[in-house]
Amino acid sequence: MFEKVQQLIQEIEAASPATKDELEQFRIRYLGSKNLIKPLFGEIKNVPNEQKKEYGQLVNQAKETAERKYAELEEALSTSAAGEDAVLFDLSRPGDPIAPGSRHPIATTLNRITGIFQRMGFSIAEGPDIEDDWHNFTAMNTPEDHPARDMQDTFYLLGSKEMLLRTHTSPVQARVMTTQKPPIRIIAPGRVYRNETISARSHAQFHQVEGLYVDEGVSFADMKQTLMYFAQEMFGTPKIRLRPSYFPFTEPSAEMDVWIGMDNEKNYRLSKGTGWLEILGCGMVDPDVLEMCGIDSQRYSGFAFGMGIERQALRLYDIPDIRLFFENDVRFLRQFGGVIPG
Ligand code: PHE
Repeated sequence: MFEKVQQLIQEIEAASPATKDELEQFRIRYLGSKNLIKPLFGEIKNVPNEQKKEYGQLVNQAKETAERKYAELEEALSTSAAGEDAVLFDLSRPGDPIAPGSRHPIATTLNRITGIFQRMGFSIAEGPDIEDDWHNFTAMNTPEDHPARDMQDTFYLLGSKEMLLRTHTSPVQARVMTTQKPPIRIIAPGRVYRNETISARSHAQFHQVEGLYVDEGVSFADMKQTLMYFAQEMFGTPKIRLRPSYFPFTEPSAEMDVWIGMDNEKNYRLSKGTGWLEILGCGMVDPDVLEMCGIDSQRYSGFAFGMGIERQALRLYDIPDIRLFFENDVRFLRQFGGVIPG
């Protein structure tokens, strides 16, 4: 019995499979489910008691030899890069093409807007989408129980009265004014959320760009000129109108429309038959807001505005329905592949 095992070990050591097929034969012969070593374990019952231990060790040695040899041969064959394996690992082959994407029309509209204001010397500020009550409302002169909170139907975080999805980009005003000293000249683009019924004209998520300019001697005329310049750059017309309005955080307040005319049905629908496209709310920063954010309202004044992006994008790209922006249908999005962001 001992001799038989010794012979097998020698046979294993001497084996030299040169191809994957031969290696597989080796595996089946010595390591497969019907390998030659297995029955040798069974023979232990025929070995005298005092030699059983030694015999067992020898058969184990045969098994270990087969396993080691197999691992060595497998490694050697796979690194020799022969035959079809070489093709699989040819790093010079061309890769899978990556289809070029395109910018979302909301992103290109945002880029155009921020570009215009950056050229006027505004820098970009950002705030979180998940905002606290103080920044979103209280600092914007809208304390709890103030009826103006009803103007914006708010998503609160589950189980929280403190945290909410920001209803406008105005909280970024508070974030900037509490951390920077005048002169302040920022715009803050971002996403905002309101619990609105989703239709062709409104959505529960949309985008705004906030603007804030605080310095000594900032006047309503500065605001009007800034916004007029923006309208000229964005829509190719300086024809704007300011309508008196109300916001808790500005005084006086206005809403601004841009003239888009009524030369086609699309313009007619966007402007509700008036020819004027309403794009933003604005006003002089309420002195109480300045004070709440730690800015001396005797010395400084400022203006602020908040504009909606979707409606401007509808107009720019002649899109009929706001819901298309958020459906992520690539057939819609691919149409903007050639648009260069301004
Ligand atoms: N935050 C206002 C809104 O979303 C817009 C606004 C911003 C008005 C800044 C005045 C000044 O309706």
